[in-house]
Order: sequence, then structure tokens, then C-alpha cells
Amino acid sequence: MTKCSPPSPPADGITARRLISIDDLSDVEIGYILDLAEHYAGFLKRSEPAPQCLAGRTQINLFFEDSTRTNLSFDLAGRKLGADVVNVPVSASSVHKGESLIDTAQTLAAMGADVMIVRAKEQGLHERLDQLLDCVVINGGAGALEHPTQALLDAVTIRSKFKTLRALTIAICGDVQHSRVAGSDARLFTRLGANVRFVGPAGLMPESNQFTDIERCTTLKDGLAGADIVMGLRMQFERMQSGDKDATQGYFETFGLTHETMKRAKPGAFVMHPGPMNRGVEIDGALADDPARSLILQQVFYGVATRMAVLDALLGAA
Ligand code: NCD
Repeated sequence: MTKCSPPSPPADGITARRLISIDDLSDVEIGYILDLAEHYAGFLKRSEPAPQCLAGRTQINLFFEDSTRTNLSFDLAGRKLGADVVNVPVSASSVHKGESLIDTAQTLAAMGADVMIVRAKEQGLHERLDQLLDCVVINGGAGALEHPTQALLDAVTIRSKFKTLRALTIAICGDVQHSRVAGSDARLFTRLGANVRFVGPAGLMPESNQFTDIERCTTLKDGLAGADIVMGLRMQFERMQSGDKDATQGYFETFGLTHETMKRAKPGAFVMHPGPMNRGVEIDGALADDPARSLILQQVFYGVATRMAVLDALLGAA
């Protein structure tokens, strides 16, 4: 592959017609999307216009939950590929006149959407929309369950430093139980050959019958030992029951990510965080801002390129 030529698509093409879970993609499709994201990152780094492969296609961003990075990077990604992009102002929409989420989505699809990016907490909504709508449905965040494009952009960011995730040790640290990022990251990183660990208070771990193949550590000492990457997570108070909040007491003193606690990881290990971060709650500002240790803004950068790759791969095939 020369610097500017795109990666070759899989021999059988892209068969995925939706991206609701990482498991909607085959290993070959994942590899292609990661390579394509790196290809598009080249355009962004060189400030060059990307091919307008989505010209004439309509992309609707429908976010029923708050978002900064995901919504805006999908917006930019679609525009950079030439799509007509519409962001639905949910707080000023007919959802507040009692319209159901499904009726809202069907109405928007009837305006000629080729792809709809949906963020919502209702379980099963994305699957239902995929059945009902005649367009590609991409999950921009589903409750505490899945956030597949965040996982893909995290993998692209890690590859930018380590070339591969194979045999890396990746510690996902914090409120794992309520994190859709932790779930999608764990599924994807494991498939890419990494050793993944969940690290945090026992009260913020997933149920014991979930993620049974992932090691769990309830101390930073064990959890960070030998880690190449430490992924910090926000306390997702909006999804917690009152009992869960007890597990957050004294969190920073026990689990806070700082230059000092990162000494438990491998020398030169990187810290990541999907954002939004809460400085002094799960991560120290000095660590988050240290360009030698923190990949947090690189995750944001690769978010645009990765979403360009996802849109191109799924719409190119549709
Ligand atoms: C996350 C999300 O919304 O799931 N952020 C993101 O999309 N970059 C993480 C969070 O809300 O804590």
C-alpha cells in the first residue's frame, strides 16, 4: 500500500449492513475499517480534502442522549466525505410532544436517510430500528451496552503507537459496570489479540455472568501491573442506582490515575480516556495533559477518521 492508496476491501466485500455491536463485523471487516481509518487520518493530517464518496447520500444524526465527541465527529466525518448531514435537535423536536422514538426515527428515515446514527438508552431500540428502517443503522451509544465506533477509534489510536494490539495488556479502569465503552472495547480488543483486564471497585464491576473471559482486578496494584495501556472511565452517575454510588466514595484516593499510580504500569505506558473526563475524580489533570503519557486528544482526532471509515465501508456496500 503506498501512502495515498486506500486499503483493498475484503475479497467478499463488506457484508455488514448495520453497526450496532462490534459483533456485527467480521474480523476481516474490522481489519479493513482500521486500515481505512488510518488512510483517512492521512488526509486529515495533511489537511487534504478526502474523496467525496458519500456525495448525494443523506446522513441523519439522532442523539437522544447527550454527546459532544461522538455526535460532532460523525457530523464532520460525513461532511468530509461529501454527505448531506442533518443533526436532529432532539431537545426541540416532537419527542417532547409525545412522539415515540421509533416514530421520530421512521419520520426522519422517510426524508430519505441513507444512514442514521442513533444514540439512545432504550434496550433493543437499535435492533428494532434496523428491522424497520430502510437505511443503515449505526450505534452512536446504546445505554450501558455498546459503543462500537468508540472501540474502533480506540483501537486505531492504540495501533498508532504499537502497530498492533496483539499481546498488549490493556487495563480498563473505573466504572466498568455502567460503561458501554468498556463493553465494546473489551469485545474488540480481545478479538484483536490483546489481554484485557477490568480494574475498579467490586461494586462497579459487571455482573459475574458477564464478560466471564475478562480478568478482574479490584486494586490498582494488580490491575495496572504490566499494562501497556490504561483506559480510564468516568463515573456514570446518570446510570447508577443509589447503592452503586457507595462504591464511588474515596475513588480518587484508591483508583485515581496519576503520574504516581501509572508507575505501576509498564514504563512508558499510555493513558487513554473516551471523555468526557472529570479531572480529580478518576484522572489527575497533569496526567491527562501530559503529551508523553496521554493519548486522549489523539482518540478525539482518530474519532473523525474512524467514523469516515465506518461510513464509507457500510454505505459503500449498501
Ligand atoms: C462516552 C459515552 O458517551 O459512552 N463518551 C464518548 O462517547 N466519547 C463515555 C461517557 O459518557 O463516559
